Amino acid sequence: MRILGIESSCDETAAAVVEDGRKTISNVIASQAEEHKLYGGVVPELASRRHCENILWVVKKALSDANMTLEDVDAFAVTYAPGLIGALLVGVSFAKGLAMMTGKPLIPVHHTEGHAAANYLVHPDLEPPYLAVIVSGGHTRIAEVPDYTTFRTVGKTRDDAAGECFDKCARAMGFPYPGGVHVDEAAQRGNPAAFRLPKTKMDGNPYDFSFSGLKTYVVNFLHNAEQRGEAVNTDDLSAALQQEIARTLTEKTIAAAKALHYSSVALSGGVSANSGVRRALQNACEQNGLRFYMPPVSLCGDNAAMIAAQGYYNYLAGITSDESLNAVASKEMRGEAVQNPV
Ligand code: KG4
Ligand code: ZN
Repeated sequence: MRILGIESSCDETAAAVVEDGRKTISNVIASQAEEHKLYGGVVPELASRRHCENILWVVKKALSDANMTLEDVDAFAVTYAPGLIGALLVGVSFAKGLAMMTGKPLIPVHHTEGHAAANYLVHPDLEPPYLAVIVSGGHTRIAEVPDYTTFRTVGKTRDDAAGECFDKCARAMGFPYPGGVHVDEAAQRGNPAAFRLPKTKMDGNPYDFSFSGLKTYVVNFLHNAEQRGEAVNTDDLSAALQQEIARTLTEKTIAAAKALHYSSVALSGGVSANSGVRRALQNACEQNGLRFYMPPVSLCGDNAAMIAAQGYYNYLAGITSDESLNAVASKEMRGEAVQNPV
């Protein structure tokens, strides 16, 4: 089954054709990051306007790269939640138009579930059940994936996502938007032991995260140094920040995998491109006898191949939509309410 996926939840307009949820036939991404960089972050209205301009040629290119026409496509999958509402609406409306025009199924896909599915495109042996660690600009979550369309949250961030922490600290260090990748680059040159960053302590669910304390500490530290006219070694600070984020993600993931008896862990989301997070989680999984999966860096960020991949499994589970489909800015993943497994 060939699915054309569409993604427009933030600042990437993307379309892709994927066969049977596993084989990428084409994958086109038009990033607006350079333009939003001028403003230090994503400007929602600008993002919507650019999606509107880009969506048609991006979809056409995904089809022509696949050497296909709309006739060769069996269904349309689209990100409908969560994200910037005006941005989501562009992809949703376009996908609805395609489905109406062709009479083919329309499949709604939750963006965060789509991130997890990026691993299916490169790891043929990855099948549920496994433990997903989804870390992006808007989400940080450990979820049980008992089957392809159920995501049971084990722990999630109570405040900022890890990507938000990377980006806000990066901005305070003077790096351009989106800052995570610049922190990663600077961290390669830095010494993490040069800074002692606070470790977040929390009551309640041990698998929950909190990154706002770390973010506030780093931003205040830089602000105070600036007021005193003191220079800060941003390579060292980046290395310490990255190490602390990687440590907390790794510790909680391994603890959850052990407590819930999982043998496979799959990392995904924009922050899964981070070299420190990749290395730390891979090493920890190896040491604990867990199979570890992660997408190549090219599939960590927002793309439509992952939406088409999850769309395939949604379709098999009977999750389709009609013309009433609407965009939703904020929505939990499919599955149970947040549970505390301890
Ligand atoms: O998944 P994504 O593209 O969009 C959301 O769904 O949020 O994730 C974007 C986030 C941004 O915060 C970006 O800075 C972060 O992923 N990111 C990174 C790296 N590459 C992207 N963070 C740290 N290190 C990286 N190499
Ligand atoms: Zn994303």
